[in-house]
Amino acid sequence: MDTVANRIAVARTRGPASAAEMVDAAREFADLMATRRSIRHFAPDPVPMEAIEEAVRAASTAPSGANLQPWRFVVITDPDRKRRLRDAAEAEERAFYQRRASPEWLDAIAPIGTDWHKPFLEVAPAVIVVFEVHQGPRTPKPYYVKESVGIAVGLLIAALHRAGLATLTHTPSPMRFLNTVCERPPEERPYVVMPVGFPAADAWVPDLERKPLREVLVRR
Ligand SMILES: Cc1cc2nc3c(=O)[nH]c(=O)nc-3n(C[C@H](O)[C@H](O)[C@H](O)COP(=O)(O)O)c2cc1C
Repeated sequence: MDTVANRIAVARTRGPASAAEMVDAAREFADLMATRRSIRHFAPDPVPMEAIEEAVRAASTAPSGANLQPWRFVVITDPDRKRRLRDAAEAEERAFYQRRASPEWLDAIAPIGTDWHKPFLEVAPAVIVVFEVHQGPRTPKPYYVKESVGIAVGLLIAALHRAGLATLTHTPSPMRFLNTVCERPPEERPYVVMPVGFPAADAWVPDLERKPLREVLVRR
């Protein structure tokens, strides 16, 4: 018995035709992605909301376990809600940096130069809070949630970068306060917080090295 109700034929490729064109396209994309950096100092200038919506649309095309698409993207632009987000995040972060963080962790993040202050949560014109959607009154039990949401966030970061917008992948610890700030139900679990905007005029990033291809790619 055929259990697949509907099938849609797919063309072999929707991209470039020749091998050389494929390599060019892949290189062009890798070069673009190589220019992405995590930004922690934002300008208050507004961003086109439609660009953010399109980036979320790109994110929501991600593959997901059993196609359950277990993600929710809350886009905060209201200044009052951003201030509450910052206040709540800084309260958690202060406790984390001053008491809960292990010396090893503090050593690992020292080169990045972060501390408990999170002004970007208020200054950036938009903040996307991504939630995992677990089983709830209206949502089924999902599979491979972290993997699925991680892939969606990867697409989101790439799409925002392609649109010329700066982002940060921010993971306050713990994160449950985000349900209150975003007014989301308990079956939605915060995954990551992403301020979105343009870098401030005096923004800086740590001078980091990316591992060379020969170190990360193994051919067999
Ligand atoms: C899962 C994850 C969590 C992160 N959490 C934070 C964070 O809470 N605060 C922060 O300033 N950067 C955070 N980062 C950003 C990393 O520090 C950054 O990606 C890394 O240093 C490489 O720099 P780049 O993004 O500019 O290439 C996080 C990145 C990832 C992937």
